[in-house]
Amino acid sequence: MDSEQSPIRVALLGGGTVGGAVARKLTSNADALAARVGRPLELVGIAVRRAGRDRSDLGVDPALVTTDAEDLVARADIVVEVIGGFEPARSLILAAMEHGASVVTANKALLAEDGPTLYAAADAHGVDLYYEASVAGAIPILRPIHESLAGDDVRSVLGIVNGTTNFVLDAMDSTGAGYSETVERAQALGYAEADPTADLEGFDAAAKAAILASLAFHTRVSSADVYREGISEVSAGDIEAAREMDCVVKLLSICERVPGEDGDGVSVRVHPAMIPRSHPLASVREAFNAVFVDAAAAGELMFYGQGAGGDPTASAVLGDIVAVARHRVAGGRGPGETAYADLPVLPMGDALTRYHVSLDVADEPGVLAKVAAVFAEQHVSIETVRQQIIEDRDDGRETRGRAQLIVVTHVAPDSALAATVDTLSALPEVAEVTSVMRVVGF
Ligand code: NDP
Ligand code: HSE
Repeated sequence: MDSEQSPIRVALLGGGTVGGAVARKLTSNADALAARVGRPLELVGIAVRRAGRDRSDLGVDPALVTTDAEDLVARADIVVEVIGGFEPARSLILAAMEHGASVVTANKALLAEDGPTLYAAADAHGVDLYYEASVAGAIPILRPIHESLAGDDVRSVLGIVNGTTNFVLDAMDSTGAGYSETVERAQALGYAEADPTADLEGFDAAAKAAILASLAFHTRVSSADVYREGISEVSAGDIEAAREMDCVVKLLSICERVPGEDGDGVSVRVHPAMIPRSHPLASVREAFNAVFVDAAAAGELMFYGQGAGGDPTASAVLGDIVAVARHRVAGGRGPGETAYADLPVLPMGDALTRYHVSLDVADEPGVLAKVAAVFAEQHVSIETVRQQIIEDRDDGRETRGRAQLIVVTHVAPDSALAATVDTLSALPEVAEVTSVMRVVGF
């Protein structure tokens, strides 16, 4: 067989949920993939960690399964890294590139931590680095931002990119149940992992936000640059408060280009937020993902689909394998990192946002004025205030009550809103600040 017809050798690092699905599709769809690439794709091995396990579910010759990943990466034209985590994934990717292999990975944690190192190695060795599956599973979102929108200017990317948290928040909204019991239900149904910390505390969404912002704004953003709050503090009361505003609570990954007098910056943050039920992201139910992009010329674009699972994620991995294999056939590479804009990543305090604040206060003359004065001192403009009596009590001399005050602000810097809440918490007239949530998307 001459080199124009010889197979392109594909090595899989990892044969778990994603790797297994990729292996099965590489085998079952081999003829169609060969036709699309212009040359056959030959699976030359699957590296796993544990020897001696039954791997019949992979649907491949058992002789292809190995625990010697270092040897495998030296025998491939394309290395697909679906092990996850930092090591040995990083070293294996770098070794693969050194051997001249292009790399496809789904590893958002590694890309968000150390993407520039991987890009530099890809440049140094003249190979591709593709990672569509790392954000929002099956949804084509990275290549649309990196390639299809390369002629436009992205203004913002707003995403629901973690299925676990969306499942939990959606279930809390539809059942009225509390956080802990809903997480337990999600685990029982297989939507949340046994240790769901990375999902529930927003680490997974923050890594994805860093990748999205880097591509959208041609600027290096790492997970350490991303402001992060998870959903573990979201209560049934917060969900109910959102409902009263005709909103739902979602864990949002927000990437914005922020114009400034001294030049633009980028704001990248992950936190729960109330969004109006009329917003397209509000209709994203269960464990689905969606990404809402606003670009100067294109306007608003919405991408929706399955953000996880073996087959959906394998779809994105296989799309990357075909893309980099086509480059091998045609000669050349796909686009690399574009970090030329090098915009500063702004601190969370500079982010412009709105707050919904619920306060448990004494229902006495002057309390509302004192509360309003705290907002005014921080130059935070109040949009609406609502009061409802929550308790009456008779202290023997006069009847006093307590009230719930619900304040929704106009847009203000997050630092001013946070300082307002701190000062309110210390007011003697405020028994408790019962809930604080950002409001997005009006
Ligand atoms: P799994 O845990 O299901 O599979 C991991 C695989 O890697 C296993 O086959 C494991 O071997 C193998 N492995 C672990 N350590 C080593 C090692 N040191 N050397 C060789 N092989 C090793 O993970 P997933 O398939 O779920 O995830 C893989 C990647 O895809 C991660 O980066 C993840 O973030 C990403 N991803 C996953 C999605 C999903 O829905 N699962 C969605 C989008 C991205 P063994 O079988 O012996 O344990
Ligand atoms: N754990 C992720 C989620 C899937 O819940 O969306 C992998 O990215």
